[in-house]
Amino acid sequence: MSRPVLEVQDLKKIYGTGEATVHALRGVSMTVHRGDYVAIMGSSGSGKSTLMNILGALDIPTFGSYKLDGVEVGTLSDSQLALARNRLIGFIFQAFNLIPRTSAVANVELPLAYAGVKPRERRRRAMAALDIVGLADRADHEPNQLSGGQQQRVAVARALVTEPALLLADEPTGNLDSKSTDDVLQVFDDLSAAGRTIVIITHEDEVGARAKRLIRLVDGAIVTDNRQSPIELPPVGAAAAHAKVQSVTNGHLAAGHGAAARTTTGTTYGPASSYAPPVGRHSA
Ligand SMILES: Nc1ncnc2c1ncn2[C@@H]1O[C@H](COP(=O)(O)OP(=O)(O)OP(=O)(O)O)[C@@H](O)[C@H]1O
Ligand SMILES: [Mg+2]
Repeated sequence: MSRPVLEVQDLKKIYGTGEATVHALRGVSMTVHRGDYVAIMGSSGSGKSTLMNILGALDIPTFGSYKLDGVEVGTLSDSQLALARNRLIGFIFQAFNLIPRTSAVANVELPLAYAGVKPRERRRRAMAALDIVGLADRADHEPNQLSGGQQQRVAVARALVTEPALLLADEPTGNLDSKSTDDVLQVFDDLSAAGRTIVIITHEDEVGARAKRLIRLVDGAIVTDNRQSPIELPPVGAAAAHAKVQSVTNGHLAAGHGAAARTTTGTTYGPASSYAPPVGRHSA
C-alpha cells in the first residue's frame, strides 16, 4: 500500500494547567490511507475538533507524532505549515465561511490566488470544481443568493480546488436540513468514489453511516475503529464521474502535491514561489 496520507501516533492534547487541566486527547493513534473516507463521531467534548485542528495543522499536539503525507508536521516552520495547509489540506467547516458579497466562483478561486495561480487558470479550475459539486450554473451568485446546502457545496468546491491530499470537514452538515445534508453527502460519496481522501467529523449517525470507516471517540480516546466498506481507488480514467474530478486534478497540483524539493523521508516544503507540481504520486 502507498504511503499513508496521514499517520498519528499517541497524540495527546492537554489544555490549561493545575485545576483547570483538560486532557482533550489521551493518546490517539490512527493511520489513513489514500482513498479512505473516515467519519469521526463522539459526544460533545470528546475531542473531535481538537483532533481535527491537529490533523489540519491548525494546532499542535502536546505530545505525539503527526505525519502528513510522510512529513512530520512538528518539524515544519510556520511558513512551511502555512504552505502545507494550502497545498495538502482542504477544509470544510460547519459555518461554510464563504466571503460575503463575493461570487461563488471568486470564493472558490481564493485558495488558488494564495497559491499564486494565474487568473485565467484560476477561473478554469474554480469552474471545474463548481461543476463537480453541481453548481456551475450558480457561479455568479453571491453567498446570500444561495441556499445553505448550496453554500456548503461551494465551500466543498473551494476545499477541493487546490487538489489537496486530504479533505477535512468538521460537522459539514451541522447547519443543514436533511435535503441539503443529502446533497452534500452525495458530493462526498462522489469524491470518495473518485479516490479523494476524506476525514469528516459528525454528530449524525446518518453521516457516519455513509463513510467507509467509522471511528468513535470517547473522552479523548478512540474506542472503536470499524471499516464499513473497502477502500477502492478508481482505475485511471475509469468512469465519467471520475474523469470529472480528475479534470480538476490533473494538470495543476496534478497527480501530486509535494513541493519543489524532496528528501528521502518525504516532502520538503519550500517557499510558495518555488512550488512546482511534482509528478506521479497521487495520480490514480
Ligand atoms: N482552547 C481550549 N482551552 C481549554 N479547553 C479546551 C479548549 N478547546 C477545547 N477544550 C476542551 O477540550 C475538550 C475537547 O473539546 P473539543 O472541542 O475537541 O470537543 P468536540 O468533541 O469537538 O465537541 P463538540 O461536539 O461540542 O464540538 C472539551 O472538554 C473542551 O472543553
Ligand atoms: Mg467540535
